[in-house]
Amino acid sequence: MPNNGLNIRIAAPLMMVAVLLVALLVSSGCYNSKTGEVKVGGAISFELPVFPETGSHAVQIFSEMHYSPAYRSQEVPRILPPEGSVPVTGAEVKIFDIEALKSLSIQDHMANYNGSQAAKTYAVNCQVCHGQSLQGDGLITTLNSARNDGSKAYSGAAPVNLISERVSDLSDGEIFGYITWGGRPGLAAAARGKDSTAIMPQFGYLLTEEQRWQLVQYIRDQNK
Ligand code: HEC
Repeated sequence: MPNNGLNIRIAAPLMMVAVLLVALLVSSGCYNSKTGEVKVGGAISFELPVFPETGSHAVQIFSEMHYSPAYRSQEVPRILPPEGSVPVTGAEVKIFDIEALKSLSIQDHMANYNGSQAAKTYAVNCQVCHGQSLQGDGLITTLNSARNDGSKAYSGAAPVNLISERVSDLSDGEIFGYITWGGRPGLAAAARGKDSTAIMPQFGYLLTEEQRWQLVQYIRDQNK
């Protein structure tokens, strides 16, 4: 039917009449506020939502989700957990003291070690710098200099070769600490309470504690 305009012109007044009729029925006493029943003579009978109230401090029992007392935007905020609350799984205590790091045991974190998951975490987060072979030759080292003056391509700090005695001689906790804080310069900055200016990101803010321990094991495995 092409003429929708006509439909609306008929439908709108009809709706208004219907709304007025319901309002009239409710106010004229044919509405039972306990059951929601509306009766007109013996002929018409239907049900509307009920809002029964109980006790002297009325508790409204809502018959429809639409009328439930949900929180909406602009209302006062819900009560948040107190500051310093920790998840039931326990919060990570961030350590930047090198001696304390050395005393950490990887065994406490290896219950769910998953080699292929660790390899994936490495590929996504570390490979671009430390390279697919972990030897510090990632894509970043081949980038052209932003200065565009023909000088040596990559001029930042060299990503460390992770397959080396330099790394295999480290304790598990030290490797964990360097991953957490962004290498030696990042850890040194954290220990002084400063922001890190190291090229390597501080993965303590990006990966879970478990993911970082898994990377320690992954680096260990590749050094075998
Ligand atoms: C943006 C480049 C970059 C990324 C991404 C990166 N690193 Fe590094 N990483 C470096 C650089 C550069 C160093 C050398 C320290 C420095 O000068 O900042 C380093 C140092 C390290 C060291 C310390 C080694 C030592 O003996 O000093 C470890 C361990 C390490 N990275 C592991 C990782 C792991 C694991 C990841 C992934 C979670 C990762 N890195 C991601 C650039 C990067």
